[in-house]
Amino acid sequence: MMNSGDNNEARNNEPAVVIQDLRKSFGRQKVLDGIGLQVANGETVVVLGRSGTGKSVLLKLLIGLQKADSGSIRVQGREITTLHFKDLNQVRGKIGFLFQQAALYDSLSIEENVAFPLDRHSDLQRGERKERVRALLETVGMEQHGKKLPSQISGGMKKRVGLARALALEPEIMLFDEPTAGLDPITAAEINQLILGLQEKHKITSIIVTHDIRGARTVSHRLVLLNEGSIVAEGTFEELKKNRDPFVAQFLLGDL
Ligand SMILES: Nc1ncnc2c1ncn2[C@@H]1O[C@H](COP(=O)(O)OP(=O)(O)OP(=O)(O)O)[C@@H](O)[C@H]1O
Ligand SMILES: [Mg+2]
Repeated sequence: MMNSGDNNEARNNEPAVVIQDLRKSFGRQKVLDGIGLQVANGETVVVLGRSGTGKSVLLKLLIGLQKADSGSIRVQGREITTLHFKDLNQVRGKIGFLFQQAALYDSLSIEENVAFPLDRHSDLQRGERKERVRALLETVGMEQHGKKLPSQISGGMKKRVGLARALALEPEIMLFDEPTAGLDPITAAEINQLILGLQEKHKITSIIVTHDIRGARTVSHRLVLLNEGSIVAEGTFEELKKNRDPFVAQFLLGDL
């Protein structure tokens, strides 16, 4: 990835993401009830929380796939809650999203899936594009499988392809929705290593939703715990471990 933290710093000194008093309900169900969160350039923040607490909704709001009821989301200094499609698309170009379900296109080969964002959003020549796709597949250890269809690869492989596709446009910010869910411990550790590599080599800013506490400890600079619409605890892994709140303690038990 050539876009590095240097770029971010040149643009502004604002944190990569600033969320203020963010609210989202579906009908009468309040899902997010005043979320505030800042993520610095190059920082990796893990979002923890029970199933159904709105973690995926939070990520979708961040790329404008869903609309907030109120509150503010600034991405690289730009308010995105009020952007129209065209401008939103421009911001989205800088944000990679690894969906909870890898969300590959079933009728396209692995290579074509990874090439998809390049076809739509870049003006690379054929040869350059091919080389980029190859390099991306290599990054995630899938270079042998480019010709296959999604139906011909395993769930963990799909996640890796999803990651390659999310990285195709060299995002400055990555959003991961349960990148290791459903994977065996070894593959999960490999994905976590990939995430660490993005952090270290490319200074990518990441927000990672996960239930994988061990992985969260490995990759996070900071964690936040979401419950009933609010952030109820926040800190480094070590800080959270010292938290006496029974709910927080229960969440981190997975690491014992
Ligand atoms: N488009 C939608 N329409 C109506 N309700 C929705 C919609 N999207 C999400 N919800 C509701 O919002 C709540 C939060 O959903 P979300 O997918 O964010 O949970 P989550 O924290 O990601 O859970 P999990 O850990 O199981 O993935 C759920 O009750 C869900 O039913
Ligand atoms: Mg979810």
